[in-house]
Amino acid sequence: MTPVIRTIGLTKRFGPVSAVDDVNLEVHQGDVFGFLGPNGSGKTTTLRMVLGLVFATSGSIELLGASVPKHVNRVLPRVGALVEGPGFYPHLSARRNLALLDATGPGGARRSRQARIGEALERVGLARVARRPFKAFSTGMQQRLGLAAALLRPHDLLVLDEPTNGLDPRGMHDIRSLLGELSAEGTTIVLSSHLLGEVETICTRAAIVHRGRLLAQDRVERLLAPTGTVRITTDDPGAALRVLGESAGSHVLERERDCVTVRLNGTTPQELNRRLVVGGVAVGELVVERPKLEDVFLRLTERGGADVPR
Ligand SMILES: Nc1ncnc2c1ncn2[C@@H]1O[C@H](COP(=O)(O)OP(=O)(O)OP(=O)(O)O)[C@@H](O)[C@H]1O
Ligand SMILES: [Mg+2]
Repeated sequence: MTPVIRTIGLTKRFGPVSAVDDVNLEVHQGDVFGFLGPNGSGKTTTLRMVLGLVFATSGSIELLGASVPKHVNRVLPRVGALVEGPGFYPHLSARRNLALLDATGPGGARRSRQARIGEALERVGLARVARRPFKAFSTGMQQRLGLAAALLRPHDLLVLDEPTNGLDPRGMHDIRSLLGELSAEGTTIVLSSHLLGEVETICTRAAIVHRGRLLAQDRVERLLAPTGTVRITTDDPGAALRVLGESAGSHVLERERDCVTVRLNGTTPQELNRRLVVGGVAVGELVVERPKLEDVFLRLTERGGADVPR
C-alpha cells in the first residue's frame, strides 16, 4: 500500500543550521502518528515541507502518492492542516473567519457552508462563542479555531502541529476524543506534541527526532516494549526472595516493602508466577514493566548540550 506520507533523505538547511537532516519518514494509512522531539528539533519544518509550504534543500516527499511540491495541489484538498496557528483576521468573528476560509478552500457547496461551519465549531466546543472577534479569543480558543478550520471538510489526512498546545484539561480531553472519532472514521492523523502521555494514549505509531535527525520510528507498542523486568507485589516478600533466590534464571534487582523487582533473564512471567505459587507465595500483583514514552524519549535525546541543531 502506498504510504500516506513518505520522505526520503529529507533535508532542510537554514544557512549553517541543518533544521532537518536526512529524514526518512513513513506514515501509513490509518496511523495516528506522533511526531516527537525537543524544541527546535525540526518537527514544524518537516511538516511544513510535507505540506509544500517550504522547499526542501534536498530529498524527496510523497504525500498521498503525489510528489511534493510538484503535484501538491492535486492532493491538498484531501489534507486538513494546523501548523503553528493559521492566519485569522483579528477583528472578524470566529464564524466569519471560518466562512472566509470555507469560501476560498477547494470543494464544498455554498448551500451547506453554514451547516459545515456550525458542525466544525460544535466539534471543537466553540459554538457558543463563535460570534466573538478572533482577537478576543484566549490562546486555547484560538487553537480550537485552528482545529475547526482543519475540520471544515472530511479529510484523508490531518496534519496537526501541537494541536493541544494551550488547551485546558477538558479541552485536551475533548480533542483527544475528537481525534479518536476521526481516526475511527478512517482519517490518518499526524500530530506533533510535547505531551508524551498524550501520544502514548492516542498514537499507534511515533517518530522521535533530535537535532533534525530521525532517531526512532515504530509502532508505539514496540517503542514501549517490555523492559525485561517484572514487579511482584506480595504480603511476604521474604518468602518470594527465598523462592526466587533458589530458582535459576531470574535475578532479583530490588526489594521495597511489599514489592520485589526481578529481571527475567530468559524466564517467562508465567514461569515466575508458577514458581512463586508452587513455593507457597501468595502473589497479589505481577506486572510486566514497560518503559514510559518519556523514558524512551529522554534516553534517545539525552546527549548533552543545547537541542537547537547546528
Ligand atoms: N525560517 C527559518 N529561518 C531560520 N531558521 C529556522 C527557520 N525555521 C526554523 N528554523 C530553525 O530550524 C530548527 C528547527 O525548527 P522547528 O521550528 O522545525 O523546530 P520544532 O521541532 O518544531 O520545535 P518546537 O518544538 O519548539 O516547535 C530551529 O533551529 C529553528 O531555529
Ligand atoms: Mg514546532
